[in-house]
Amino acid sequence: MNVLLLGAGAREHALAWRLSQSPLCAELFIAPGNAGTREYGTNLAIDPNDFEGVKAAVLERNVRMVICGPEEPLVRGLRDFFSDDDELRSIYFIGPSREAARLEGSKSYAKAFMEEYGIPTAAYRRFTVDQVDEAVEYVGGLPTPIVLKADGLAAGKGVLILDDAQEAQQEARAILEGKFGEAGSKLVVEEFLDGIEFSVFVLTDGKSYRILPTAKDYKRIGEGDTGPNTGGMGSISHPPFVDADLMRKVEQQVIQPTLEGIAARKLDYRGFIFCGLIIVDGEPKLIEYNCRMGDPETQSVMLRLNNDLMQLMLETAEGELGAAVVKIDDRQAATVVLVSGGYPGDYKKGKVISGLEKVNGSQVFHAGTKVADDGSIVTNGGRVLSVASYGATFQEALEASYENAKAITFDGMNYRSDIGFDL
Ligand code: AMP
Ligand code: GLY
Repeated sequence: MNVLLLGAGAREHALAWRLSQSPLCAELFIAPGNAGTREYGTNLAIDPNDFEGVKAAVLERNVRMVICGPEEPLVRGLRDFFSDDDELRSIYFIGPSREAARLEGSKSYAKAFMEEYGIPTAAYRRFTVDQVDEAVEYVGGLPTPIVLKADGLAAGKGVLILDDAQEAQQEARAILEGKFGEAGSKLVVEEFLDGIEFSVFVLTDGKSYRILPTAKDYKRIGEGDTGPNTGGMGSISHPPFVDADLMRKVEQQVIQPTLEGIAARKLDYRGFIFCGLIIVDGEPKLIEYNCRMGDPETQSVMLRLNNDLMQLMLETAEGELGAAVVKIDDRQAATVVLVSGGYPGDYKKGKVISGLEKVNGSQVFHAGTKVADDGSIVTNGGRVLSVASYGATFQEALEASYENAKAITFDGMNYRSDIGFDL
């Protein structure tokens, strides 16, 4: 069947790589895709948030399955747009409904959900726009660091961790007074959790679930986890500190109650659930849900997922995931992200990328890249390329990624040379 994959990142390039290997995938379309996804399918110049544009492409290209990579179209209700439309209703769609996507799209919704289904998480309080003074007073009395979260999607910038109570008070006020627009109409103030983080990915058809390879990502721009957060600078799979005992706890205390909550609330959820977890005193706590796969975790996870991805997607869409057996590669995987100079602040685009043909023994997944008029591949975003590799150990996998990263050059190219440093 023909498939339309929505998104433009290295996550989507990695998904396209796996999907295109399947005999069940006839034609693959990626909207909008990047210079790398062309290798595995046809890019369509459509914004995934342009629902009518997506519909036109589905009908015109005889698409039978849509897989949504990023969260924004889901939070805006793309899945509902499909189920409400006579011409689209029968199309398989991977991604939750608008209501279910609130698990990512509204932090207060997610916290209330975790509380209701007994899922371990940080203690919190929620404030609305008419409780500014109350919020400021409450924040002023908290021990530092103080965790503030704008309720809605804020392009990855909506979480603040502050060491100064006065600054936290100012920020709490600024969020409720509209610093992040609508996303800040509610504020969640959370207990700070100190521990090591990891990402668990679950695929569900709404009834059954399967756990995909686990990963750890590195969010900060600077070596040693310093500096501002980015979209992700690297990842490894499998994080060695996540043992079978911890995974059992995650499954029993987080995944199963999440699925029970989804069923109890009758949420329409066929797709990926990304649990962002932290270990505190040996116990897993859920920091957040995302209603999609992680980036740059997917790049490592797709290397290790040996299933026919299309088959898994079909089982998810058809409610047959209970029959699926997840096959995980014994090898480890590591991803190093190459970014534009200046990112996550201002950076330049249009820099010529060279050396891609010299890469040997790694998969290069594109993100911010495009084909220039003269046919060369140029930078087109902050995160430009992900270099993903296998190894017998994660250290070996990292070595391979770093070796190949050195073969690639573009003006201003930057990457962290210490992915995995803490393990
Ligand atoms: P998010 O933007 O929602 O992905 O969150 C960004 C990051 O903030 C998380 O990955 C954690 O590193 C950190 N974080 C969020 N909540 C907490 C918390 N309660 N305690 C400590 N760190 C947190
Ligand atoms: N790697 C974290 C995320 O995708 O949100």
